[in-house]
Amino acid sequence: MLTARDLVARFPGREPVLSGASITLPDGGRVALLGANGCGKTTLLRCLSGAHRPERGDIARDGVRLEHGRRGLREHRSAVQLVLQDAADQLFSADVTQDVSFGPMNLGLPVAEVRARVDDTLAMLGIEHLAERATHQLSYGEQKKVALAGAIAMAPSVLLLDEPTAGLDPEGVAEMTAILDRLHSDGTSLLVATHDVDWALAWADAAAIVVDGMVRQGPVAEMLDDQALLASARLTPPWTLRLAPRLGLRGRPRTLDEMAALIQARLTENRTTA
Ligand SMILES: Nc1ncnc2c1ncn2[C@@H]1O[C@H](COP(=O)(O)OP(=O)(O)OP(=O)(O)O)[C@@H](O)[C@H]1O
Ligand SMILES: [Mg+2]
Repeated sequence: MLTARDLVARFPGREPVLSGASITLPDGGRVALLGANGCGKTTLLRCLSGAHRPERGDIARDGVRLEHGRRGLREHRSAVQLVLQDAADQLFSADVTQDVSFGPMNLGLPVAEVRARVDDTLAMLGIEHLAERATHQLSYGEQKKVALAGAIAMAPSVLLLDEPTAGLDPEGVAEMTAILDRLHSDGTSLLVATHDVDWALAWADAAAIVVDGMVRQGPVAEMLDDQALLASARLTPPWTLRLAPRLGLRGRPRTLDEMAALIQARLTENRTTA
């Protein structure tokens, strides 16, 4: 379990971005991190990864507090990996294989093990064909997958992903979702920042919403049905949760299929009573 308690984070000369933010990522959890542009999602993910040192508050993994010294950070990063919002910021080697190898090499793993991890990861993401490509020539969607590959090759128990579906075509979003589902079924805990409330409702178990430097966390359907909370976070409710009450349906359908099932049940009920 990865937790942050009462984080205060700020940049020089500015008001705090986070002012007492707490969040819990349970083992095997799928948590969506939501909130307005500039509310502090990326800053929170950077704190959780150890990249940004908060002014106050604790980060802990399985109850052990993160120490920001060299050894503490090294140990933390072998378990917790952050995939950046802008993949281009994450890729710095000349070609894809080198880039994905970088982290595992740094762990001091034998070359054969590194090679196996890279091959397995590229295969899992369906991007073996990119292995020899120059990183600076990759398309945006390809960059996102390669950046994710670099994190997955570290075999982390926790993955923090900053807007992994943003800017992808619909097929790309479906592929990314399938990859996240695969990681989840392999036991990886996932915290995903996104602006896509429909996607968050369908995919996550819990939502963490950043408002005024703090985090409100709870079951995803409950959180995304809280109009006042959403308004304060500059979010609109997912379409299924807007449509269900207008059709007089009970429950909180999370997907098109769940919505269709509720409508079908209502139609059947109407036919029986008619
Ligand atoms: N390196 C920095 N120096 C100064 N201010 C920064 C820095 N990084 C972020 N900020 C500021 O901190 C605030 C939070 O930024 P952050 O990137 O965490 O927001 P976000 O929720 O991820 O936004 P978005 O949805 O647009 O990605 C913003 O006001 C931003 O301008
Ligand atoms: Mg961000």
